[in-house]
Amino acid sequence: MSQISRGAGKALDLFDLRADTPGTKNRNHLNNAGAALMPSAVIDAVTGYLNREGEIGGYEAAAEAGPLLEGAYDSLATLVNCARDEIAIAENATIAWQRAFYSFSFGPGDRILTASAEFAANYVAFLQVANRTGVSIEVIPNDASGVLDPDALARMIDDRVRLIAVTWIPTNGGLINPAAAIGRIAQENGILYLLDACQAVGQIPIDVNALGCDILTATGRKFLRAPRGTGFMYMRKSVVENLEPAMIDLYGAPLTAPERYTLRPDARRFETWEKNYSVRLGLRAAVDYALAVGLDRIEERCNHLSSQLREGLRGMRAVSVHDLGAPLASIISFTVSDWDSQDVMADLTNKGINVSVSPPASTPLDAFARNLPPVVRASPHYYNTEEEVDAFLEAIAGMGA
Ligand SMILES: Cc1ncc(COP(=O)(O)O)c(C=O)c1O
Repeated sequence: MSQISRGAGKALDLFDLRADTPGTKNRNHLNNAGAALMPSAVIDAVTGYLNREGEIGGYEAAAEAGPLLEGAYDSLATLVNCARDEIAIAENATIAWQRAFYSFSFGPGDRILTASAEFAANYVAFLQVANRTGVSIEVIPNDASGVLDPDALARMIDDRVRLIAVTWIPTNGGLINPAAAIGRIAQENGILYLLDACQAVGQIPIDVNALGCDILTATGRKFLRAPRGTGFMYMRKSVVENLEPAMIDLYGAPLTAPERYTLRPDARRFETWEKNYSVRLGLRAAVDYALAVGLDRIEERCNHLSSQLREGLRGMRAVSVHDLGAPLASIISFTVSDWDSQDVMADLTNKGINVSVSPPASTPLDAFARNLPPVVRASPHYYNTEEEVDAFLEAIAGMGA
């Protein structure tokens, strides 16, 4: 990326950004909530490292890239505003989330409070742990606009609430839950707060201190533009120090005597010894790239393009936009009357336009409450153009919308 696109206050140089993104030549990619197009810096970091593994050996390549690999923790810490020893890198966000969640202990009468827009993988884990331990899972009500209501949360608090675990931006639409307001309530009451920031990371600025969360988990492959199969967790130092991982290995808990292990002091106690180093370097490159572009500017442009797209759809008679609340994120969920969402996606694919379909099973509570069918999900990112959004809208209009 050339200098011109860097620095606060400067307009983004789309020409540069797209030249940096080989996939923009092939597709109109509006599936950044699925997996964004990686910039060349990310692709080069991964392939360059894999080549070195082939050339000199896996252990030897890791030793050679040692400082770069370590730097991934610094980059992630900068991204979410924490210390490097509060970061653990994982194979995906779900694993990062599970490593934290399954390490808590619950008993009968304990309560976990969650959001109606909770991601299904988190919700099934709640159900399993509820079956095993007797903890109850309770959904925090939304306000009239469909956004989680912090006042309702405050009214639910008692001394049996052990965990507040919510998804910030869900997988099935533009809703943004009030993550910082939830954090204030969690902190005031000394309750652990686990935030799923998968769809937020890389799309909007993240500051774990401003959010007041104890644990934040996120994926690499979505708006952060890292390779698939990457994720990470922030865990507040005071929580790390008092939480034994549900599963340990010789990396997170080295043996210090024949029959004694000592947990690492940092968040890496939640990691394992063996790692995919190439995608870690890709994750680092993606974080550095996002930081260089600037999260404020990314957010601003995502707002601009997603508003254009959403307003365009709202103007079409046969389209229903399903996003709840305001302000909205760069995920637009919709259906076209008389069209199956899979067919909408297939038609767009034939025109070189990438979107995805979010089935009710991804966000079961919300989908059930609103009786949602599978919805088409369009998710522009800062490197998309206004012309691409227009081409998408034209294609939808062509469906008789
Ligand atoms: C809100 C949310 N949480 C978690 C995940 C899971 O992320 P990963 O695939 O990295 O495990 C997703 C993926 O769609 C998501 O949208």
